Amino acid sequence: MTEYVKLIHGDKEYQLPLIVGSEGEKAIDISALREETGFITLDTGYANTGSCVSAITYLNGEKGILRYRGIPVEQLAEQATFKETAFLLINGRLPNRNELTQFSVLLNDHSLVHEDMRAFYENFPRSSHPMGILSSMVNALRSFYPELHNLEEEINITVTRLLSKVRTLAAMSYKISRGHKVVYPRPDLAYCSNFLNMMFHSPVRPYDIDEDVVRALRVFWILHADHEQNCSTSAVRLVGSARVTLYAAISAGIAALWGPLHGGANQAVVEMLTHIAENKNMRQTVERAKDKKDPFRLMGFGHRIYKTYDPRAKIMKKIADKVLAKFNISDPLLDIAKELEEIALKDDYFIEHNLYPNVDFYSGIVLRAIGIPTNMFTVIFAIGRLPGWIAQWKESMDDPNWKLCRPRQIYTGPAETNYVPIAER
Ligand code: SDX
Repeated sequence: MTEYVKLIHGDKEYQLPLIVGSEGEKAIDISALREETGFITLDTGYANTGSCVSAITYLNGEKGILRYRGIPVEQLAEQATFKETAFLLINGRLPNRNELTQFSVLLNDHSLVHEDMRAFYENFPRSSHPMGILSSMVNALRSFYPELHNLEEEINITVTRLLSKVRTLAAMSYKISRGHKVVYPRPDLAYCSNFLNMMFHSPVRPYDIDEDVVRALRVFWILHADHEQNCSTSAVRLVGSARVTLYAAISAGIAALWGPLHGGANQAVVEMLTHIAENKNMRQTVERAKDKKDPFRLMGFGHRIYKTYDPRAKIMKKIADKVLAKFNISDPLLDIAKELEEIALKDDYFIEHNLYPNVDFYSGIVLRAIGIPTNMFTVIFAIGRLPGWIAQWKESMDDPNWKLCRPRQIYTGPAETNYVPIAER
C-alpha cells in the first residue's frame, strides 16, 4: 500500500507518494511535483536528491555498510577476484566456472589496442596527466570500432573491450611518458598481474610477479569497483542519458573522477602527507583544515555519505600494513597518516562534523608500496571503478522510465532589458 506525504501551501494541499527501497530507505517521488504544484525543488550538490532507483550497490553511511548486489564488500575483498566482482556488478550475479572462463577468454582477446593509437600518445606532452590521456583515449576508441547494428552485441563487445583495454591504455601512458618500450598484454597472465606486467616489465629487467602485490591490487580494485551515485557515476549516467556511446559516457566519468574532491584525492593525500613530512607541520595542517576562512580540506577525510569510518578505508589500512611489512618498507607517510588519523579522530571539529578517513586516505600508501607513481593513482582508481560505471550505465539504459537528464533551476538574474548598441555604451 503506497504511503504519501502531504505538502501544504496556503489553502492548497498536495499528496506526494513515498518510494521505499529494499533496505527501508524512503524517498518522496516528486516526478509530478511541477505539474501539480508549479514548484520545483532546489538541492545544491544533490545531497538530499535521489537520481534513480538502483539494484547494484547498497551504502549505509551511518553504519558503514557497502554491498555489491547484496554481497558485503569485505567478503568480496577476501574471497573474490576482480573479474568475478566486475561480472557480478554488470550481470547482477556471480559467474559460474564456465562463464568465468568465457569472460577471461574474451578479456584476453580484446586486450590489445589499435597500433595507430600510439601516435596519439606520442603527441601528448610528456608531462600530460595520465587521467587526461585516459579520458581522451577511451573516447577515441569509438573511432577504431564502428558501431554494430545488433545493439545487444554492440553493448556486450564494447563492455568487454573497455574492461580489457583500459589496462593496456593506462600502462601505455605510463611507459610512453617515460620513453620506455610499450609492453603488450600476455595471454598467460590474469587480469591484475597482466596490468602490473605491462606497467613494470622491461626488456632488461623482467617483472617478477609477486602474489602479495597482485592481491593488494586486486583488493584495491574490488574496493573501488562501485559506490552507487557518486560524482563520476552520476556523470556517466547523465552523459549516457543523451544516448552517446558507452565510450563517451565512460570518458566523462574519468574526467569527473580526476577532481581532487573525488577520485583525485588519493593523489592529493600523498601530496599532503609529503608536505607534512617535509615541513613537519602536522598540527598546522589540522588547524588549517578546521579554519572556515581557509578552503584547505584534510585530503582523504570526510565523505558525502559515510558519517563513520569508510569500510573500504579499514581494509585499505590493513593492506598497507601487509604490503609494507612484506617488502620490509618503512614508509614515513604511513606513520604520518596514522598519526594524523589519531589526532583528527580525537579533535572536536572532526568529531562534530563526522569526518573520518575515506577510501583515499590509505590507498595512496598501498599504491606507492607496489610501485605505482603518484600521478597514476587516480588512473588505478578509474580502472577499478570501470565495472561500476558500466553496470550503472547499463541499468539506466535498461530502465523503461529513464529519460534524458535535464535538471531545472531557479533564475535569479536581471528582469527583461533591451540590447544597447555599441555606439551608446
Ligand atoms: C571519493 O561520493 C562517493 O561515493 C565518492 C567516493 C567513491 O567511491 O566514489 O567515495 C570516492 O571521492 C571519496 C572522497 C575523496 N575526497 C576527499 O578526501 C577530499 C576531502 N574531503 C572533502 O572535500 C569532503 O569531505 C567531501 C567533498 C568528500 C564531502 O564533502 P561534503 O559532504 O560535500 O561536505 P561539505 O563539503 O559540505 O562539508 C561539510 C562540513 C563543512 O563544514 P561546515 O561548512 O558545515 O562548517 O564538513 C567540513 C566542511 O568544511 N569538511 C571538512 C572536510 N570535509 C568536510 N573539513 C575539513 N577537512 C575535510 N576533509
